Amino acid sequence: MTAKILAPTSENIALLGERLRAGELVAMPTETVYGLAASVWHESALAQVFAVKERPRFDPLICHVAAPSRSTDWLAYLVEQNLVDARVLTNDQFTPARTLAEKFWPGPLTLVLPKTSRVSDLATSGLETLAVRVPRHRTAQALIRAAGAPLCAPSANRFGRISPTCAQDVADELGDRIDWILDGGRCEVGLESTVVAFEESPRILRRGGVSQEEIEAALGHEVSYAPLAKLGSGQLASPGMLASHYAPRKKLLLLPKPFAQLETHELVVAIETLPPSARLGLLLYEGNVQQGRTAWKDRLRGSDFEHALTAVAILSPAGDESEAAKHLFRALRELDANETTSHLIVEPPAKNTGLSAAIFDRLQRAAHRD
Ligand code: TXA
Ligand code: MG
Repeated sequence: MTAKILAPTSENIALLGERLRAGELVAMPTETVYGLAASVWHESALAQVFAVKERPRFDPLICHVAAPSRSTDWLAYLVEQNLVDARVLTNDQFTPARTLAEKFWPGPLTLVLPKTSRVSDLATSGLETLAVRVPRHRTAQALIRAAGAPLCAPSANRFGRISPTCAQDVADELGDRIDWILDGGRCEVGLESTVVAFEESPRILRRGGVSQEEIEAALGHEVSYAPLAKLGSGQLASPGMLASHYAPRKKLLLLPKPFAQLETHELVVAIETLPPSARLGLLLYEGNVQQGRTAWKDRLRGSDFEHALTAVAILSPAGDESEAAKHLFRALRELDANETTSHLIVEPPAKNTGLSAAIFDRLQRAAHRD
């Protein structure tokens, strides 16, 4: 099987809508990352998604819904689509859910809501809730409409690996396992959606494209970040929040502080955990490649690692946070694929708020090895 990468013309979108209706899988662009889509109403296609990704069945999927042409009451709309059972929601759940939907949809926000009995246990891994998102990428919207059904789509990478942010990344991950990739260009956000669940109060299960600060501002109060929260039943509230995730093939060292803030001896102590023969690919937030190389040499002059640096990638020359988020996964992939490197070294963002908090989360998990 070799995937065809199709341009987002109306003919191609109609064709792929038909393929989805027939129970096939299509990799689709969204503003966050590319997803591997299957119709929510097609059991065997949902099973295929888990098989193709080698994803454990306990990790539930996000269901993508098209935006209606006119402004709407989002929760009523999800009820109409037979996805969500809003009767089960208390007022303390209903009100914030509606506020967040109104504020951030279409966009990089996923809401965990009570599911109807029509939704397959495969989509939700047996949970009573369904994760729902209305993507704002026009091509994603057009494909969902063409399929005539909401689309369940996890990120289109093999399980545990870096999420794809362009059609070629999807081909590199899954090109020999699927038939169709719809090309929607580079993803604009570059990090997955923020996942919010509603228990007694709203809580963030995964950091992502909408920041905690934006969510708190919309709701007018603080919300907790609880990636390892448990449900009343004792199950993990967010089964996908495994420590090791977003992993490059090569080992990744996350520095304890931003590069410029590290004393030379702190830097050496961190790098000494790598083998002496390591050839290093360095990922920095700002500046340019030449500045990065010079800073490295200046800092490590005379040490064993002075000449160990073989590649540098910069996320945003001007140090802009959204630009850094957009380029993060691509840059990790490039350093990982670079033949001159054996190990990757990444600095943490200078702050742990806004999108930087989501970037930091991805880097911590990329660095984690079980
Ligand atoms: O931006 C995104 O969210 C991308 C694009 C394609 O939309 N999708 C994505 O899907 O990141 P995936 O499968 O890689 O991550 C889904 C996350 C997992 O952490 C999973 O545990 C959580 O959503 N999730 C799904 N259903 C859930 C539920 N019912 N309750 C709690 N967490 C849920
Ligand atoms: Mg994923």
